[in-house]
Amino acid sequence: MASILRILGIETSCDETAAAVVVRHEDGRGEIVSDVVLSQLEEHSAFGGVVPEIAARAHVEAIDGLVEEALQRAEISLSDIDAVAATSGPGLIGGLIVGLMTAKAIARVAGKPLFAINHLEGHALTARLTDGLSFPYLMLLVSGGHTQLILVRGVGLYERWGTTIDDALGEAFDKTAKLLGLPYPGGPAVEHAALQGNADRFKLPRPLVGEARLDFSFSGLKTAVRQAATQIAPLSEQDVADICASFQKAVSRTLKDRIGRGLARFREEFADLDVDPALVVAGGVAANQEIRRTLQALCIEHGFRFIAPPLRLCTDNAAMIAWAGLERMAEDLPPDSLEVQPRSRWPLDSNAQTMLGSGKRGAKA
Ligand code: KG4
Ligand code: ZN
Repeated sequence: MASILRILGIETSCDETAAAVVVRHEDGRGEIVSDVVLSQLEEHSAFGGVVPEIAARAHVEAIDGLVEEALQRAEISLSDIDAVAATSGPGLIGGLIVGLMTAKAIARVAGKPLFAINHLEGHALTARLTDGLSFPYLMLLVSGGHTQLILVRGVGLYERWGTTIDDALGEAFDKTAKLLGLPYPGGPAVEHAALQGNADRFKLPRPLVGEARLDFSFSGLKTAVRQAATQIAPLSEQDVADICASFQKAVSRTLKDRIGRGLARFREEFADLDVDPALVVAGGVAANQEIRRTLQALCIEHGFRFIAPPLRLCTDNAAMIAWAGLERMAEDLPPDSLEVQPRSRWPLDSNAQTMLGSGKRGAKA
C-alpha cells in the first residue's frame, strides 16, 4: 500500500451534491485538498422539504461538473488518485444511484478500487480527520434525517446506543417551523425567532426524559407545539417567538437528559481510558447555539471533551466520505466490487433493532 494515500469522494445521499479530494499522510494525518458542495436548498424550499425526484435530477445535472471541479482544485487528474469512495447508503435511492454509478464508472475507466461508504460512517469518522481523535468516542448525529448516539470503537466498529423512535430532531425543527409559518429549512428560522421569545411561556413535553434507554422521541413534542399554537391562534410575532423558545428549551432539556446518560454509560464502560473521553457532534442541528451550549456544559460536567467539527464538515459533504474510504484503506479493508448496490436503509450497527427514525433519510416535508 502507498504510504501517502489520495482519494476522490462523492456524496449524493440527500440534497447536497458533493465531491472532494482528501489525502492521508504517512503519519495518519488527513488533509482536505479540495471540497466542493452544491446545495439544492432553493430547488426544494418551495415544497417545504426535500423532494426525492427533484433531488435525483439535480444530482445528475451537477455531479460530473463537481467531480471535475474537485480534481481541478486539487490540481490532479484521475490517474493520480489511489481510489474512489462514494456514499452508497442510507439515503434517497435516486441520489445514491447517481453518486454510486458515477464512482463505479470512474473506478472502471481509471482502473482504481471503489469504496462504497455508509454515509453515517462518514459522519462518525470526521472528528479523526479534523481533530485526530483516537478511538473510542461517542458521537451524536443530529440532522434532518437522523438522531443517533453512536459508540465509535474503531473503523467499521459502531454500536448504536440510542436513536429516535419517530422523527429526527432536524425534522422536528422543520415541522415546527412549517406549522408556525416560518420558512424552510426550519432549524435556523426557529433558532432566530427563539432569540426574542420567552422559553417559559409554554410547558412542552420532554419525551423519554428519565428513562434508562438512550433513545429519543420528538413527534409528541411536535404535536404539543401544534396544540399550543391552535389554542392561541391567530399567532402574533411574539407568540411565534415564545413557542420557538419553549420548543428549543424542551429539546435542550431532553438532549441534556438523554446524552447525560450516554456519557455516564461511556464512563462506566471505559473506566480505564487514559485520555479524557470525548463527545463529537455532527449534523445540521449541531449549528444551533443553544443546543451547542447545552452539550458543552454537559461535557464539562462529565469531564468529557466536546468536539464540534467546523459546520461545513458537520453537514453533508464529500470530504467525510473520502476520509472514511481512506480509513478503510489504511486498515487494509478490502475495496467493494463494482457489483455493489446502493441501499436506502443501511444502519451502521447491524445488530441494532430497526426503528422508524434510524438509518432513514426521506422527504423531510
Ligand atoms: O445535516 P443537514 O445539513 O442535512 C440533512 O439532514 O440532510 O441537516 C439539516 C437539518 C435541517 O432539518 C435543519 O432544519 C437543521 O438541520 N438545522 C438546524 C439549524 N440549522 C440547520 N436545526 C436547529 N438549529 C439550527 N440552527
Ligand atoms: Zn448527513
